[in-house]
Amino acid sequence: MCSIIGYKGQLSVAPLLVDSLKQMEYRGYDSVGIAVINNGKVITKKGVGNVSDVAEKFDLGIMPGHTGIGHTRWATHGRVTEENAHPHYGCTNSIAIVHNGVIENHHELRDELMGLGHIFKSDTDSEVIVHLLESYYAKKDIKKTTIETCRRLTGAYAFVAAFEDGSICGSRCDQPLIIGSVDRGYFISSDVLGFLKYTDKAIFLHNRDIAIIDSNALQIFDFEGNAVNRETTQVAWEVSSLDKGKYAFHTLKEIHEQPALVKKAGIKNSNKIGEFCNILKNSRTVYITASGTSYHCALIAKYLLSNFAKIHCETIVSSEFQYTLDGVDNSSVLLSISQSGETADVLEAVRAAKRIGSKILSIVNIPTSSLARMSDSFLELECGPEVGVAATKSLTAQLCLIYAIADRLCDYSLGFQTNKIFLAEASREVLDQETEIQTIASKLRQARDIYLLGRSVHYPIALEGALKIKELSYIHAEGIVAGELKHGPLALIDKNTYVIILNPDDRTHCDNIVSAREIKTRGATIIGISNKPDDAYDMLLKLPSIKKNIFYPIIEVLPLQILAYYLALVKNIDPDYPRSLAKSVTVK
Ligand code: F6R
Repeated sequence: MCSIIGYKGQLSVAPLLVDSLKQMEYRGYDSVGIAVINNGKVITKKGVGNVSDVAEKFDLGIMPGHTGIGHTRWATHGRVTEENAHPHYGCTNSIAIVHNGVIENHHELRDELMGLGHIFKSDTDSEVIVHLLESYYAKKDIKKTTIETCRRLTGAYAFVAAFEDGSICGSRCDQPLIIGSVDRGYFISSDVLGFLKYTDKAIFLHNRDIAIIDSNALQIFDFEGNAVNRETTQVAWEVSSLDKGKYAFHTLKEIHEQPALVKKAGIKNSNKIGEFCNILKNSRTVYITASGTSYHCALIAKYLLSNFAKIHCETIVSSEFQYTLDGVDNSSVLLSISQSGETADVLEAVRAAKRIGSKILSIVNIPTSSLARMSDSFLELECGPEVGVAATKSLTAQLCLIYAIADRLCDYSLGFQTNKIFLAEASREVLDQETEIQTIASKLRQARDIYLLGRSVHYPIALEGALKIKELSYIHAEGIVAGELKHGPLALIDKNTYVIILNPDDRTHCDNIVSAREIKTRGATIIGISNKPDDAYDMLLKLPSIKKNIFYPIIEVLPLQILAYYLALVKNIDPDYPRSLAKSVTVK
């Protein structure tokens, strides 16, 4: 989604903003812009493309001044054009703003402001913010101007405004906004990665906070204008983990980090897992909610908690939660799973469950995220920042925590802790087959449709494999429960289709082989992912045999991630930043 950054201090602002925007580019972008304040004037430059290209084209890095704001846009309202890129500035050019989120009442506000003579230059919802600010700025009182403006806005938003006098002001309502405190100034950003290179001292603004940074330093108010105190927190991530290291892309680096993650899974969280288990055991029903890849983990969580821990569970994809609230009550627990902890659909589900009185547990990678803050208790993924837009290592970290929880709930009869080390080795063995997987990717390069089949706990991995292939290679891919093939999808199978079957040697194996033969007679090419060869497969991606089959999801997802990665490369797609996707989906 959009990234916003602001800085006021002693240093030259433009190079800092360009660098910060690059750090946050992983969140998604289609256009970029910067506004600086110099000698009482607002100077804005913006364009379509990535940060490096726009910075070079418009010389963003050498814009003058010590106060400024910057933005990478991920279009929601209005096409990808230079006019729609942020920052937006008003008619008098005394204020510029950058915005993340959606202003729901922008049509009414635009009509009203146009009636007052304001001239709009873009099709965005965001531009109303700057015209509103301008209309309340007659007395040049930034605090009052911002409060009045926020009173008029509905929706989920965070914005930062730069004023002609060199002050900056940020406001948040259901979208994150964080202040980074440096020696001689402040950053204000939608993501700690926007300033983590310069400071680990962060102030997380609360919902409906306004922060003003002027020559008298930083002041924070609530929407009613009362001064509030917000503590400074030290954030932990190592900046070095944002490097690609020896890898060509973040995605590949993150895929290769997974064996080490499996090995150390759950160590830091061990006490908190106990607390989690007590809450889960005492709930009437556990509702598990998440989006995208995290939802695939939720499906496996349901399987493990119901089958091994005998806990009554339901999974509800977050965007559907509001329509499916019937059974949720104050004796239920909502377990939400999210890498970013900022996914709007997940946060919306949590708010709905909280209103009903359910307890909120979450599994999240970013301990300072909105989701972690809204939860009664949360477990950290501890997998470090995930930069590649497609989720890879965060899924593995989520799965490991889910296995650790299920294991604890069934008196360690699953044996996750004792098997971890072998699973880490098995993961490494799978990743060692990178060259073979690359060869398969070049054979699938022209594929029009790829179907992925699995049963039981392998079905969510079939869904995940399909999602990865779609996201990274733009090839149509679909995960199907293998047993459902004969109820319709078989009609789609012909000699031009490719079918990947997740088929480790467990109790799903024989039935899958029957499905494979049905597919083979229709001429499709079959790729087996299994520890047991079979002549039904045209190609085999070999899984190592492991001691307990229940852990196969942790390792069988890896060849699918690598396959999707190489499909992106053979199709000349940047696997770190595929089109139309954003790392944190902060709009509904
Ligand atoms: C898939 C992907 C997305 C996310 C989804 C949820 O590769 O990255 O589908 O999984 O947007 O994001 P989080 O886990 O941050 O809530």
